[in-house]
Amino acid sequence: MTFQAALDAILSGAPPDAAALAVLLACDDTDATGLMDAADRVRAATVGNEVHLRGLLEFSNICRRNCDYCGLRRGNAKVERYRLTPDEIIATACEAERLGFPSVVMQSGEDAWYTGPRLAEIIRAIKDKTSLALTLSVGERDPADYRLWREAGADRYLLRIETTDPALFRALHPDDDLETRKACLFTLKSLDYQLGSGVMVGLPGQTPDTLARDILWLRDLGAEMLGVGPFIPHSETPLADAAGGTLNQALRLVAVLRLVFPWAHIPATTAMASLDPLGREKALQAGANVVMPAVTPTDRRPLYALYPGKICLDDDARKCRGCIDARIRSIGRTVATGPGHVLQGKARSVR
Ligand code: 5AD
Ligand code: SF4
Repeated sequence: MTFQAALDAILSGAPPDAAALAVLLACDDTDATGLMDAADRVRAATVGNEVHLRGLLEFSNICRRNCDYCGLRRGNAKVERYRLTPDEIIATACEAERLGFPSVVMQSGEDAWYTGPRLAEIIRAIKDKTSLALTLSVGERDPADYRLWREAGADRYLLRIETTDPALFRALHPDDDLETRKACLFTLKSLDYQLGSGVMVGLPGQTPDTLARDILWLRDLGAEMLGVGPFIPHSETPLADAAGGTLNQALRLVAVLRLVFPWAHIPATTAMASLDPLGREKALQAGANVVMPAVTPTDRRPLYALYPGKICLDDDARKCRGCIDARIRSIGRTVATGPGHVLQGKARSVR
């Protein structure tokens, strides 16, 4: 199939097929311009010019898991571990609201200190004190915990599937399995969270075909937010010497996602900016419509090192807020002031 035939097929609104998606993902640089322009036009016509800000609050880097790609894996003894107290988390969220973030994402490693009830209390406090939309991203947990947090007021949940290829998932996750991850996502969906998922691009052994199948799986799941980024090898992990992903791969993936999910929220992620100072602006012009600047206290930022080269480690939430505003305006877009909830019922529709 030619690039143009694949692009026309997906723009026709027919259900996407894996072969066409793989052709788009593997396109050359000239075709990539056409792909990203098409995605940018779809983005403008559906979710519009507004860019939604989510303040990312990384509240604990303690993790019980040993994912082969991640700098926070349990086996990395070189990380200084930290855990914000409930009061610190609540105060940081309140500060984020004062700085004009309509929404925060509470993210951590899989840290069992935050039991279901403990985290529920924090969520309830933040929802009582603020009008923030609240996203959780704390990994795989029991359905009972997911339910408790939803009842406490959490609006959204982010849990990347990372890859739907069973052999690759197994190879990357010595202490996890794909079916459990999928079951967590189905549970979250059934609890009526606005659901975010996604993958890394450039994982060892991953191909355009694998990624194409990931996209179709995310579509079947009904994911409403799609967070993707390049895999960046970390020296203190088993994948230290892997090649890693590139910004170009990530931008093609963002563009294809926008074509498959015209109404979804798609962030321009920090990992993209870590590979290129203008990585997020480029993603926003290739289909993305969300940015997630850190609101994590400055002194903890260097410790939340999933991958090397993370940006803004010396900055604070106020500075990041101003910087990101300017970047969004520099490409002719506007900063959204509303909570940026998913457009109900539209997240899955193909135009
Ligand atoms: N490079 C890029 N992204 C990574 N993540 C974890 N480790 C890395 C890495 N080395 C991503 C995973 C996880 C998210 C929180 O960070 O996709 O879901
Ligand atoms: Fe832990 Fe998440 Fe890193 Fe895996 S990716 S080691 S679960 S922080």
